[in-house]
Amino acid sequence: MILGREKIDVAVEYLKNDGVVVFPTETVYGIGANALHENAVNKIFKVKNRAADNPLIVHISNMDMLNHVAKNISDIERKLINAFFPGPFTIVLDKNDNVPYNVTSGLDTVGVRMPNNKVANLLISKCGFPLAAPSANISGKPSGTNIEDIKEELENRVDCMVDSGICDVGIESTVVRVIDEVVHILRPGYVTLQDIAKVHKNVVYDKHIYTKVEKDDVVLSPGMKHKHYAPITDSVLVEYVEKSDMAQRVKECISSNGDKKVVVLACRENIDKYTEQNVVEVIDIGSNTDYKEISKNIFSALRHADKLHADVIIIEGVKRDGIGIAINNRVIRAVGYNVV
Ligand code: TXA
Ligand code: MG
Repeated sequence: MILGREKIDVAVEYLKNDGVVVFPTETVYGIGANALHENAVNKIFKVKNRAADNPLIVHISNMDMLNHVAKNISDIERKLINAFFPGPFTIVLDKNDNVPYNVTSGLDTVGVRMPNNKVANLLISKCGFPLAAPSANISGKPSGTNIEDIKEELENRVDCMVDSGICDVGIESTVVRVIDEVVHILRPGYVTLQDIAKVHKNVVYDKHIYTKVEKDDVVLSPGMKHKHYAPITDSVLVEYVEKSDMAQRVKECISSNGDKKVVVLACRENIDKYTEQNVVEVIDIGSNTDYKEISKNIFSALRHADKLHADVIIIEGVKRDGIGIAINNRVIRAVGYNVV
């Protein structure tokens, strides 16, 4: 059942009865349930086919809820919360006893986020309890940024879906954890390292943001270990190289695929350049001068590309700078680290 935002009370009723509801946030849609009820949270893992060792983010709508789910909040953590809540920002804090361990996959920490989206905040406020919610997709697939993209995948698996159009940001929140007064970025997002450095100078990227986690690696965020965002079609990223002719390099990649049918995800400035015979479609991901636009479009473009049943999806890379860092982090995983 898909509801307009004016029918939000129906979703609230489901959630109060430990149901599972797809709802919008400014980043991506989430699959929400009562974060304080173990049995409600279990349903999310089933709906999404998610590994039990990958913890969920707890979504709140006010500061009372923050203190209900987290404790021992330090001065640095408090400063970050004040700067970036509400927003596309998740902070990993000491877990309070009210949060069941299936939310955190047995960890004594909990990821907390206050979305900057009116529908999400109204939903959480009306429930009166926080919502545990992963991104709206079956595990391993690209995150859902509009209902159209995900209804086939999820409509029959949840109690209802609240439709509020296309998500503004398009990629998931920045996830951070403060350790020994250093802010570690566990997952890059719309809130960049530069944004965080204005609040607390000592901030670093986790070493795994672009690299595959090997079997024995110790990770700060379990999500890093799992397969992510991937289309079914074989995919390759043509990495951005400073001062190189990106279009020329994408063309070489197209040619190297011989007769294979190719879909290209390209920035608007280059979409007319890929006229090779084996190109079945070129998808415009946005202007290369506006990475916000690319971040908003990227998951939907990946889903669309997958539906064309080509042999290969070729993705034009963006600069590893600002939001481009988060875009690269998602795309590198989407292509299964297949980068040229
Ligand atoms: O923007 C978002 O964050 C979206 C919307 C729905 O809020 N949610 C989202 O959730 O992306 P999910 O489950 O797809 O990703 C959550 C990430 C995972 O990589 C997970 O490992 C990490 O957050 N995480 C959650 N709790 C954690 C914890 N206690 N310690 C370390 N990492 C944690
Ligand atoms: Mg996800």
